[in-house]
Amino acid sequence: MDSFRIQGGRRLAGRIQIEGSKNATLPLMAAALCTDGTLTLRNVPCLSDISNMTKLLRQLGVEIDGECGTVKMRVADPNAIHAKYEIVKTMRASICVLGPMLARRRRARVSMPGGCSFGERPIDLHLRGLEALGAKIELTEGDIIATAPQGLKGTTIFLGGPFGSTVLGTANVMTAATLAKGTTIIECAACEPEIVDLANLLNSMGARIENIGSPRLVIHGVESLGSTTHTVIPDRIVAGTYAVAAAVTNGDVILEEFPIDCMLSVIDRFNEIGVHVEVIEGHDNPMHATVRVTSDRTLKPTTITTQPHPGFPTDLQAQFMTLLCLAEGNSIITEKIYPERFGHVAELSRMGAKIYRQGPTCVVSGGHPFKGAPVMASDLRASASLVLAGLAAEGVTEVSRIYHLDRGYTRMEEQLNVLGARIERVREESKVPAAETVSSSASSASSASTPETAKLEP
Ligand code: EPU
Repeated sequence: MDSFRIQGGRRLAGRIQIEGSKNATLPLMAAALCTDGTLTLRNVPCLSDISNMTKLLRQLGVEIDGECGTVKMRVADPNAIHAKYEIVKTMRASICVLGPMLARRRRARVSMPGGCSFGERPIDLHLRGLEALGAKIELTEGDIIATAPQGLKGTTIFLGGPFGSTVLGTANVMTAATLAKGTTIIECAACEPEIVDLANLLNSMGARIENIGSPRLVIHGVESLGSTTHTVIPDRIVAGTYAVAAAVTNGDVILEEFPIDCMLSVIDRFNEIGVHVEVIEGHDNPMHATVRVTSDRTLKPTTITTQPHPGFPTDLQAQFMTLLCLAEGNSIITEKIYPERFGHVAELSRMGAKIYRQGPTCVVSGGHPFKGAPVMASDLRASASLVLAGLAAEGVTEVSRIYHLDRGYTRMEEQLNVLGARIERVREESKVPAAETVSSSASSASSASTPETAKLEP
């Protein structure tokens, strides 16, 4: 397993571009199962999760041309309906093939995804929504078997759960409803920009979805969906992560393709903390703005509570915890989506952070500088928070198991090195002491590896 060796304390400066969104791309790719036409996606990021989705769709009879950038998909064998455990276990997001497959093929068999490193991840709402549309659902040998021999039928569905709306649950039920007979209303639908992107894609394929971006979706079923070409939205979580990278190093960084329009809760917290995100180009196109990120020398503490969109995203909680470790005073972070998503706390503490956790809430006592240390992350966003801490730390930080990062950030070390960071990807077999490699690492980024296959997925 590869690791990153980071020489901390370098101020970041320069310009990079934000890639296409992973969490938008995965359900967009699954929508290829709903049509006999060709689905062409542009701005697909180069990530191991995307490779895993490609493998899964091939297993389900989809011909795929391209791995990232521009990807063309077309169903060649509509009889393959089994999404097997070997692939599903690598990526929980595999569940998003269930709704599209059921809608078009009227049957689907998908291995039940398990829990993940930040707790239980139920899919009861996905199944409840599909059952409400008329599907019969059984569980056999760890697989969900969903059938609707007469096709699905529109209805009114409340899709909220104990933590509010569900993103991939909404993707599944909304996509399935596009081919149902009659009209479906989804109440408490997820409003995340990735769901908006999916609804826009489906409408460009011929679906009739109304109230896009609201918690009450209205979907008029159609007979069939056709071909389309669609450009994936920029990744708001990657954008937020690189903005934090600028802030923790007191840098001056320009980020292109910054989707500020769907990041207002994040910008609000940045403002409170003393991080300035200024639009310098693209005022009239706020999903694709160019921003300059700078910060005050002294950062202020604040309160953050994660919530469904448009609230503060859980996928940036860990990165903001790193930032708040550097603020002068006590901050409070409450996790309302995944109360156990705190795998980074113990590792940040190894680097000198002072964080006190009580259930879903952490008090971050800021103002204690990070010190480089060997750390290990348990999931994608926790890994990102450790890299950010490593950038700000005095000395060398080694972050192991960075296959997690390759799931959601395209060659993160190359991007950060362009901005002046000094990060080296160290192959497991070529491990040598940190002091020997870091000093010569600045030029090594371009030889960084392609992403490994993910071993465990949130
Ligand atoms: N939930 C239920 N029942 C369900 C589904 C969800 O109770 O049937 C609960 C979950 O346990 C959680 C909450 O509802 O407490 C929200 O979960 P959601 O279903 O919205 O999560 P998801 O769709 O499985 C997506 C992202 C996650 C992101 C969450 C929340 C993808 C591929 N994944 O997951 O992204 O954290 O929404 O915004 O879109 C990541 O990128 O690092 C990541 C984990």
